[in-house]
Amino acid sequence: MKNIMVIVGGGRPNGNTSQLVTAFSKGAEDAGHKVEIVSLVKNEVKGCLGCNACRYGKPCVQRDSFNELIPKIMEADMLVFASPLYFWTISARMKAFIERFYCLAEEDTNPNLGRYEKYPEKDCALLMTAADNLFWTFEQAVSYYRFTLINYLGFHDKGMLTAGGCGDTNGKPQIEHTEHLRNAYEFGKKIY
Ligand SMILES: Cc1cc2nc3c(=O)[nH]c(=O)nc-3n(C[C@H](O)[C@H](O)[C@H](O)COP(=O)(O)O)c2cc1C
Repeated sequence: MKNIMVIVGGGRPNGNTSQLVTAFSKGAEDAGHKVEIVSLVKNEVKGCLGCNACRYGKPCVQRDSFNELIPKIMEADMLVFASPLYFWTISARMKAFIERFYCLAEEDTNPNLGRYEKYPEKDCALLMTAADNLFWTFEQAVSYYRFTLINYLGFHDKGMLTAGGCGDTNGKPQIEHTEHLRNAYEFGKKIY
């Protein structure tokens, strides 16, 4: 049994992203894992100030939800980053949440080339929805995920589900008319 934390970076309460998260979580729970879903709309996390007060081991000076989320992050085996595509990348809420990982850094006396500190070891995955479904629709978001979370923080990639063609936010969520919910369930079920 693994402990999975799903962070949802915005999106409508019953929108495409939320439905994708529910399907993934159901699959993971059916496989025996514990899943906790954390909404960044309900738990506001602001971007990093770069004040460096947190280095190393001290709490962040900002009074928002991040410090309360730290124990959950530390206990999780896996972090799942779920976001709608906003202007061809992850939402600002999700970016702000990731910036705050700065205060989870530990000193590393022998860092890998290009890495200045160490971060907790975590598995991770990416879940995204978008209106468009072109070959480049998720390119920036996937690039950011790979660059920051896998290459830099050193998390272990367990996969990505990029769900295009879900309709825009002018209308009702369209994800139930696609194959993405079924795929998300299977993704969750086979995640370990
Ligand atoms: C501010 C904003 C920016 C968006 N930017 C894009 C975009 O760049 N490309 C795209 O395909 N869809 C874009 N969309 C559409 C959403 O990504 C899409 O409708 C998504 O599935 C909405 O998720 P939700 O139903 O969970 O809110 C945008 C929507 C909003 C509100």
